[in-house]
Amino acid sequence: MKKIKIFSPATVSNVACGFDILGFPIESFGDEMVISKSDKKGVRITKVEGYPVPIDSKKNVASVSAQKLINDLKPSCGFEIEIKKNIIPGSGIGSSGSNAAGSVYGINKLLGEPLTLKQLIKYAMSGEAASSLTEHPDNVAPALLGGLVMVKSIHEENIISLPVPKDLFCFVINPKIEVKTSYSREILPSNVALSSMTKQVANFGTFIYALHTSNYDLIKVSLIDNVIEKHRKKLIPSFDEVQKKCLELGALGCSISGSGPSIFAITKGEENAEKINTEVTKIYKKTNIDFSTYISKISSKGIKVIDSN
Ligand code: HSE
Repeated sequence: MKKIKIFSPATVSNVACGFDILGFPIESFGDEMVISKSDKKGVRITKVEGYPVPIDSKKNVASVSAQKLINDLKPSCGFEIEIKKNIIPGSGIGSSGSNAAGSVYGINKLLGEPLTLKQLIKYAMSGEAASSLTEHPDNVAPALLGGLVMVKSIHEENIISLPVPKDLFCFVINPKIEVKTSYSREILPSNVALSSMTKQVANFGTFIYALHTSNYDLIKVSLIDNVIEKHRKKLIPSFDEVQKKCLELGALGCSISGSGPSIFAITKGEENAEKINTEVTKIYKKTNIDFSTYISKISSKGIKVIDSN
């Protein structure tokens, strides 16, 4: 195989109570990437279409993660990467994670899969750091593995695919304003009050139990962020109004997707997500900010191959 075309999904990360450790892919929305072997060693970004991202291979998240992988695998060839960028950078739905994971996935495939998907996570994380200044796994892990994934650490046994009750759906609104992850991390306090920590741990533990038992009532009382949301929501127009409406309409939870500005709601059933879509669209039309909305299953699929030769 000399060339591979892949689809790499957008992802919702943090998922309220799982800051930096929990995420899942959005079905059918993401970037496309073409990765080709080249006689010239190293890695180059040869084309970017759609939303702008750096073409400089030292700055593009896809080439940064690819270079890390190449440093370890030492292949006899180089690689060229083309990116069709559908996810807006700074959108909170894993724009950088999609490309940081996509490049290492594609190169690993072209090299005959010397590494497992879980082993690729640490390389993809190094690409994330090129854009957000931290190596968080909660976008790249679900992009690579699919499904709802929790990453305790990058050791394979600590990367855990969680069960997803069959009726869980997700609604996402992406206001088209940029919030840089580096900035939305900078505004977070470095210390957390003991009482907030206790609530967050209780919510996280309950949420994991609720997933294992398909207990939607317990999901509703645990899908809450007591630590991060209050600091970041000021960067997101109409966040409180949207969250209130989602919960009024029966969402099991609603919070900031990743580092924002996207907002997600988890629902029981697709119909509830559709209803939320209609009402949140009305709220956002009043802001005069352009936006997109998505309704998706908690997708069990991560990156997939579209074509190869
Ligand atoms: N967990 C990261 C954060 C996700 O919230 O900063 C960024 O997409």
